[in-house]
Amino acid sequence: MFEEGQLYAPVTADEDGRATVHLADDHPGAKDDDYRRRRNEIAGPALDWRPGDPVPRVQYTDSEDEIWRTVCRELAPKHERLAIRGYLEGKEALALPSDHVPQLDEVSAGLGPISGFQLYPAAGLVPLDVFYGSLADGVFHSTQYLRHPSQPLYTPEPDILHEVVGHCNLLANPAIAEVKRRAGEAARRCETPEGLQYVADVFWFTIEFGVMYEHGELRAYGAGLLSSFGEIEEFRGADIRPVDFDQMATLAYDISHYQPILFACDGMSELTDRVAGFFAEFDDETAARLPRNAGV
Ligand code: TRP
Ligand code: FE
Repeated sequence: MFEEGQLYAPVTADEDGRATVHLADDHPGAKDDDYRRRRNEIAGPALDWRPGDPVPRVQYTDSEDEIWRTVCRELAPKHERLAIRGYLEGKEALALPSDHVPQLDEVSAGLGPISGFQLYPAAGLVPLDVFYGSLADGVFHSTQYLRHPSQPLYTPEPDILHEVVGHCNLLANPAIAEVKRRAGEAARRCETPEGLQYVADVFWFTIEFGVMYEHGELRAYGAGLLSSFGEIEEFRGADIRPVDFDQMATLAYDISHYQPILFACDGMSELTDRVAGFFAEFDDETAARLPRNAGV
């Protein structure tokens, strides 16, 4: 559950508007003062940003470009071997740079004509209703910082590599982008926290960590698997279950480790028809039928 841990580090602004990112003690960059300073520097403009303003650009350093290069280089052959075809097609269509960190406005310019999605800068945690609800408008909130260089293969906190390499390559597939819009519409329909949490949980086990049988082979389509060159090698060893929405909504999950239980779609149509159809019909009533929420 999201309440069990915070996915993104909280960001606060002091009186003169300077941003401070509060990394958890076990974050790989927690004791690295230069990293913390850099995180604060990148968070500032995103915190001040309002829709309609130009999206802030970040002057990435050579070592940040180097992390981007390392992760892209490690991921490329793994994607070929382990990602679903629809992801590989999206990746080819979007043609992101692999040698330097792209700017969010550049990624939006590529996504626009393909699926109409655009990126908003996120300093850190975006409230659940805003994050999911804005998917209905084709808006995806993206962080701009990079993971700590000591652990490029997996980060406990989503970074721009996860957002762009994981989510944006998926959003470059119009059929999958449509599933995300449906999730956004479901979130907008919710008036209870239980409803919103149900949407977030199904999103977690599909768009973030979903796997899919394609020609009898298990492949990944979840953005969280596709952005981690550590976790992508492990998903075939997980406990793989058929899609079951109530189970997704009731299973507890730990957001900071490799996922031990995953749900597999049987081909693309189960994602674009069944999962999208679930979101299309979802409302607070669906959530209220869960035993956990009965009587709420
Ligand atoms: N582990 C992912 C990566 O290394 C990033 C990530 C952290 C993540 N927490 C997540 C992705 C939760 C999805 C959901 O790229
Ligand atoms: Fe994500």
